[in-house]
Order: sequence, then C-alpha cells, then structure tokens
Amino acid sequence: MAFRSVLLVAAAAVAGFAPAAMAHTSASNLDWDAALTKASTAVGKLSQQDKVNIVTGVGWDKGPCVGNTSPVSSINYPQLCLQDGPLGIRFGSGATAFPPGIQAASTWDRALMGQRGQYMGEEAKGCGVHVLLGPVGGPLGKHANGGRNWEGFGPDPYLTGVAMAETIQGMQSAGVQACAKHFILNEQELNRETMSSSVDDRTMHELYLWPFSDAVRAGVASVMCSYNKINGTWACENKNVLDNLLRDELGFQGYVMTDWNAQHTTLAANAGLDMTMPGSDYGGKSILWGPQLTSAVNSGQVAGTRLDEMVKRILAAWYLVGQDKGYPGINIKADVQGTHKDNVRAVARDGIVLLKNDANLLPLRKPTKLAVIGSAAVVNPQGMNSCTDQGCNTGALGMGWGSGAVNYPYFVAPYDTLKTRAAADGTTISLSSTDATGSVASVAEGADAAIVFITADSGEGYITVENNAGDRNDLDPWHGGNALVQAVAAANPNTIVVVHSVGPVLLESILQQKGVKAVVWAGLPSQESGNALVDVLYGLVSPSGKLPYTIAKTAADYGTSIAHGDDNFAEGLYIDYRHFDQKAIEPRYAFGFGLSYTNFTFADITVTAAATVKSGPASGAVVAGGKADLFETVATVTCKITNSGSVAGAEVPQLYLSLPTSSAPAAPPKQLRGFDKVKLEAGTSGTVTFNLRRKDLSYWDVAKGWVVPSGTFTVNIGASSRDLRLKGTFNVS
Ligand SMILES: *[C@@H]1O[C@H](CO)[C@@H](O)[C@H](O)[C@H]1NC(C)=O
Ligand SMILES: *[C@@H]1O[C@H](CO)[C@@H](O)[C@H](O)[C@H]1NC(C)=O
Repeated sequence: MAFRSVLLVAAAAVAGFAPAAMAHTSASNLDWDAALTKASTAVGKLSQQDKVNIVTGVGWDKGPCVGNTSPVSSINYPQLCLQDGPLGIRFGSGATAFPPGIQAASTWDRALMGQRGQYMGEEAKGCGVHVLLGPVGGPLGKHANGGRNWEGFGPDPYLTGVAMAETIQGMQSAGVQACAKHFILNEQELNRETMSSSVDDRTMHELYLWPFSDAVRAGVASVMCSYNKINGTWACENKNVLDNLLRDELGFQGYVMTDWNAQHTTLAANAGLDMTMPGSDYGGKSILWGPQLTSAVNSGQVAGTRLDEMVKRILAAWYLVGQDKGYPGINIKADVQGTHKDNVRAVARDGIVLLKNDANLLPLRKPTKLAVIGSAAVVNPQGMNSCTDQGCNTGALGMGWGSGAVNYPYFVAPYDTLKTRAAADGTTISLSSTDATGSVASVAEGADAAIVFITADSGEGYITVENNAGDRNDLDPWHGGNALVQAVAAANPNTIVVVHSVGPVLLESILQQKGVKAVVWAGLPSQESGNALVDVLYGLVSPSGKLPYTIAKTAADYGTSIAHGDDNFAEGLYIDYRHFDQKAIEPRYAFGFGLSYTNFTFADITVTAAATVKSGPASGAVVAGGKADLFETVATVTCKITNSGSVAGAEVPQLYLSLPTSSAPAAPPKQLRGFDKVKLEAGTSGTVTFNLRRKDLSYWDVAKGWVVPSGTFTVNIGASSRDLRLKGTFNVS
C-alpha cells in the first residue's frame, strides 16, 4: 500500500513566510507492500508446526527476553526477542533509562520525541531485541491518578498521537519493531484484568482510538491488546476492536500480540489475535496456543488460512524493519548507551514546566547561601536500583514503577548537581535530606533561597507502594509534602518548590504559603535529573515545558474517578481540559501552561481554507490510519511569534479548534489540533505554520464516520489552553 505524503494544499497562500518545521505526523516510508510479499513467500515454506511456533510464545521465563518465540531455520527466522518497555531496555544494565513518555510529551518537541525513539531503537537493536514494547497510547489518562499514565503521553489524543508517531518512526528507523499498546480502554490498574470498559462509538474514535490511528499511520509493526474487556468481551478476543477498528478502519497491516497472559481462549485467533505472549500463564501451566492451536486448526475451528494470515503479519513486520539482514544476537546486558544521555538531559530539561516565579526569583544568580530540603533531593540511600521495577518511592524520583520501568545505569540526583554548581559559584549549600519538618527551620533560615523537593509516584498494580496499588490513592504529594513545604516556607521567604511527579498533584496548600515564590514542575526526568534541573534553575536554558495535563484545584474537578467494577465511560469526550472547558471550571494550571524566563508575543494570524474543502463524510480508500482524504491538508494557519524578552527561549504556540456549533453535534468547546516548539533568541521572531487535515476538522458520526461539519470554524492560538492570544475563522460550505 503506498502512503500519500502530507503536502501543503494551501501552500501558495502562505508564500513569503518561512514555514517552521511543522510537518504533520507523516506517513511512514517503510514499505509494507514489499514486506508482505516477502512474508507470503516465506509462509509458503513453513510447516504447520513452524507456523504455530511463530505465533506462540515459548512460555513465561523460558527465554532471554520477557517474550520469546521459537526460531525457524528454513527461513532464517530467529528466536524472536520481545522486551519491555516504553522507556528503554527492562532488566538491562548497560542501557539508557530514558525519561518516561509523559516527560517527552511535556517538551512538546517533536524532534526530541523522535530522537528519543530512535535512540531507544538503536539500543534495543544493540541488545538484539526485535520488538521493544512501546510506545504507550493507552492509558490515555482519563483518570488523573491512573497508575500507568506516566508511561504514555497524557490525556490529549492529538498530543499523544504526535508523540506516538514520532516515537514509532524513530524506533523503526533504527531497525526495531515498535509495539503500540495497550489496545484499548485500559485506563486504570484497579481490576484491570477483570473489568469491562464500554465507551460510545464517538468517544472511542475522537479520544481513545485517535493515537492508535497515528501509530498505524506511522507504520507501527505491532499492537498489544489489553487486559480488560470491552463491552463484555476480552480486548484480545474482541473482533470489533481488532478486526473492525484496527484492521478494517485503520488499515493496520502488522500483528496483534496479547498483553502478558491476557489471552483467555484458543479461539481468540478468530477475532484477530496473531501472537500470544508469553505463551503460558506465569505458572507455566496454562497454554492456549501451541498444541491447542494445532488441534483447533486440525479440527477446523480455526481456519488454516487464518493461521497463515497470522504468520504473514508477524513475518511482514520482521521484514519491514530489515531484521532479516544481519541483526545482532540477543544480549540484554549489552552496553549500548552511546551518547544518548544527551537526549535524556534535553527531554528532562525541556520538559520542565515553570509554574510560578514571583518577583523573578528564578533563575538563581550566584546565591551566597542555598538550602536544599527533602528526601527526594538525593538518590535512594539503598541504591538507585534497589527496588524491583522501581517499585518504591525512596529518594529522588525519576520514573514510576512496573514493567514500564528500567534500571538506571547511573542516577544524577538534584543535590549532586546543585552541590557541584554551588562549589563553582562559591555558594554555601546545606542539605536536609529527610521529609521530617523538625530540622527544617535551622537549614532553611537565612539562606538566599530554599529549594524543597516533593514527589508523587504511581505504577503498575502488581506492586503496591506505600499503600498505592498502582493507581494513586489521592492527588496529594507523598511523604507529607504539604507539611514539609509549609515548614520550609515559614522559615524562608524565597522558597522554591520542585515537584517530581507521575501526574497532577494538588498544589493549593503549597500555593497558600507566602514564602513559596517559585514552583518548578520537574516531572519524571530519569537518570539526568539533577543536570536537567540545574540547567533550568540557573538559567542555562529558559524553561520551555508545557503541562501535558491540567492541574486542578480539587480532585473532584477532573470529573472522573477510578471505577470499582465495570466502567461505562459516562464522561464521554469530556476528560481533562475538555471537561474543564465544558463545565467552565477554573483550573489551577491549565493544560498547555508553562512560564519562561523571557516573554513571547503572538501576532499576524492568517487562516486559509482550501477552496476544495467541502463538508460531509470522509472518503477514499483506507490507507494506513484511515480513509485517505482524512490526512489531506485542508486549511493552513500561520502566525508570528516574537521573543520580546531579554533572553533566548522557546515557546509552544498551540492551536485549538472549535467546530461550528450550527451543524456539528455538541462538541468540546475547543480541541488541540496543532502545536510547534519555536526556539528564538531575544528580540527575534519566527513564523509558525499549522496544517489542518480533514481529520482535524471532523467529528465522528456513528452512521457516517468522520464528518466535516459546515459552517464557521474558529481557530485560537495560544500559549496554553486558557491563554489564547490570536483568533481567526474559516468557513466550510
Ligand atoms: C460498545 O457498545 C456501545 C453501546 O452499545 C457501542 O456504542 C460501541 O460501539 C461498542 N463498542 C465496541 C468496540 O464494540
Ligand atoms: C514579561 O512581561 C510581563 C508584563 O507584560 C512582565 O511583568 C514580566 O516581567 C516580563 N518577563 C520577562 C522575563 O521579561
């Protein structure tokens, strides 16, 4: 299938502007047609036993990787190695611990996202890993406290979709098969292996399926079906989602594998499942394919042609990324880091969001005396990797816990870098590395500034940390963080709060403290934590991260809560800022918000709709991601951004689109449909170009599919979802 490249339809309208690098999530240049042809030929050489071996994992703990299949010598097919996870090589010792997805999202920087993916791919290849199990497009994050949200890219489907595509293209360009997971509607850890999720068709398309469409469009090799049921049917045997949505509608040509032990019946093959992992339950007893699949094929319960199709898809993905030629042998412990820590530092740093900076307390300017407070300022005293799968929150926090975590090759904690910097500046630095409030005053008093570290952690439900069984119990800082900040702020009027967190934390108590002058949202920086933080605190770079989720004033403001039983997704389209907008709830810090050490002005909006764009349903053949015309640019918006402050910095202009209310059904008041990261020296300007695709203008209609409504579309460009600076409109008839 040939992919259409995304071209600027209305390019002539913006002649004279130098378009910024604002390419849409572009289609992959990998050649599925050629890969499928090779795979068909190979399938013809295989015995039935070979075929069953290719689709069946060898069983839990029976190979070098978390998932393994058997080799087939007649086609030089190797023992396939599938390894977690979304931020590096799980159980590695010489691999980089990349910042989690949520930190990459927080940079809003496509180039950094793509480079992170490429480097992860290079490392996986260096370790002989064929399939690296990421990126994560679900959970999307409808629950602010969902345990695994940090593995993905936040609750906006557009931002998540871009991040998915960039990551996948980066990984697969390096020769590794990516795996878009978890498909689909697995939004919480509680009861994830028993509960059923049901969501209306429109919400499915406009929120949860959206990032997977971008993943397919990016050429993703594999998709992992999730643990939960959908409408009462297990995700891994749900024909509606695997066949109808993923294959028929999105044009996915790769293979579907189970989440680990998420298969329930042999006949899942008939619903569209292609590979079972790890091939047995964790006790090694229950095996659903292997000999059982052979019997099912022999008895006609699973068609032989279906087995051939499963194998063809798996082999095609292997050929697609060139793994049939000279792929390295498996060595999970290989030293593969290269210079990838530069990307870690850049993502950690450029994902830092400055939330508050009264009286320009930051950046620090050679303070005479600095106080550093909190257990999270220093590396875990028991060792940076002392907790299995990072299943503890002790010391500095760099990632959440679970199968999506990895070992750190090293860990630069905040205090490590602060101490070095203080020595260079001649600053006296004192440390209280506990969360006890008693000793705080003596350390904080008299310092030019006091930096206090607080955290909130979450992870996968098979580990419980401080009574949090995956999902967070609440949105408060851990370890008495509010009391700690209160004590520090009472002792020092220049208190800087640094938050390392998996997701939103309620900051109301902290913001009430008069001494709190600055709040630095440092997210999940992984191994380069201290270096990234000091780059920002001392103004080596201006902070440029933007929140990839809303920070509310109260937990109830989010309007969703973890289901105790099945979840019918009653909130529909209204999660995160869509909900705050619809209900006119004032967030504490809006989605997309982040301060800088400089100022940016927005000007000169132009809006040009292609004369050819007409209202109505999408059409055309299905290409990777959906119907072909969905990906055509139908409107172009430009604006000018000026750095009007005194230092270099980067702004993230965000385009929010509002559908015409006259003909579209009730829709979220505005939705992110474009963004760019613009780096500007002080006093300089740049032009940003946003290309809106037909899909960006569409809503999902249950009968007609994606439909562009007629009427007036409103475009807002802003510095956050609640700081809209420019407005324009265009009409579609
Ligand atoms: C689940 O059921 C709802 C309600 O009947 C329906 O709108 C939706 O399309 C179904 N989804 C799937 C994936 O079957
Ligand atoms: C940005 O502008 C605001 C007022 O418009 C001003 O208060 C602030 O100091 C400026 N910040 C910088 C870093 O120039």
